[in-house]
Amino acid sequence: MKEQILSEFGKRFSESPVLYASAGRINLIGEHTDYNGGFVFPGAIDKAIMAAIAPNDSDRVNVFSIDIDEEVSFGLREEDAPTQSWARYIFGVCREVQKRGGVVKGFNAVFAGNVPLGAGLSSSAALESCFAYALNDLYNENRIDKFELARIGQSTEHNYCGVNCGIMDQFASVMGQKGKLMRLDCRSMEFEYFPFAPEEYELVLIDSRVKHELADSPYNKRRQSCERVAARLGIETLRDADMEKLEAIRDEISAEDYSRAKFVIEEKERVLAVCEALNRDDYETVGKKMYETHQGLSKDYEVSCEELDFLNDVAKECGVTGSRIMGGGFGGCTINLVRKDLTERFTATATERFNARYGHKPQIYPVVISDGARKL
Ligand code: GLA
Repeated sequence: MKEQILSEFGKRFSESPVLYASAGRINLIGEHTDYNGGFVFPGAIDKAIMAAIAPNDSDRVNVFSIDIDEEVSFGLREEDAPTQSWARYIFGVCREVQKRGGVVKGFNAVFAGNVPLGAGLSSSAALESCFAYALNDLYNENRIDKFELARIGQSTEHNYCGVNCGIMDQFASVMGQKGKLMRLDCRSMEFEYFPFAPEEYELVLIDSRVKHELADSPYNKRRQSCERVAARLGIETLRDADMEKLEAIRDEISAEDYSRAKFVIEEKERVLAVCEALNRDDYETVGKKMYETHQGLSKDYEVSCEELDFLNDVAKECGVTGSRIMGGGFGGCTINLVRKDLTERFTATATERFNARYGHKPQIYPVVISDGARKL
């Protein structure tokens, strides 16, 4: 990928570029908790967006996307926003850096990636983080704090891409470290690295390669439900709620809002239980919690779909330790905690049965926990 990007850059532009990369992410547990002030447990993976970038002494940005095979050029004022959705991520990052008092000047760039799109592995966060990291390095002597780079990506989603997301994806993409997951408290923003290298288990992603709906509006609707319940309870976020408080207002909120909030409250507890279990190498409990999360995401939060429920059932039947839908939902991957001696049989069975049922094979990705945003 590196050679291809450099060669394409050479064909289009004359400057000598610097290479940057940032990663996609997985999340062990803690789904839809980030915008509720709860905990998440993500890590960066070995699938990334990589960009060659060079200042061009102008006030214009010229970017070529290898994967989309399209070049877009835009200025750096608010009214210069491009219409192509992929370019809006980059434009948004430039604008968000500027809004924070950072310097951004014109540049030429070529980028490509191997984070599968729409698989719930946060290809957009990888793109945002790659450019945020690069602009900080190229124009701002790395003065912008790394955590703020993640916020720049998140604000880009909110202000330029219409997704009212939490901080998890951009945080994981920027801060990820090889071999380590991170537990982030999305209220205090404190986080801790957790080395993750179980001897007898591994994490495997099964990508259904289905995307039912653009996640944006159902995602934003889930968030609104949570905010309504929090407001009704007189608290800032559902982090401060518990089942007792929720039961007390059950008759005053819609059945749908009740289910959404119930999931979030239970999920918060599950992340803490998983941390404790990991501390004693108790992977059976970790897996059990993952299945519970799937159930909650499917029945209470309603962000699963038939194909993902099917993959979850197959995992259970194969005796996989833990399995659940991962990320925002409505398609994409399941994340599976599998005993190493079972992986081959499980992935073969899942592939065969999924193919027989839906007419296409799912994609299998072994999880390699890797570094986040960096200069190459
Ligand atoms: C998407 C969002 C994240 C998070 C997850 C669900 O990936 O971008 O902020 O809310 O969904 O956990």
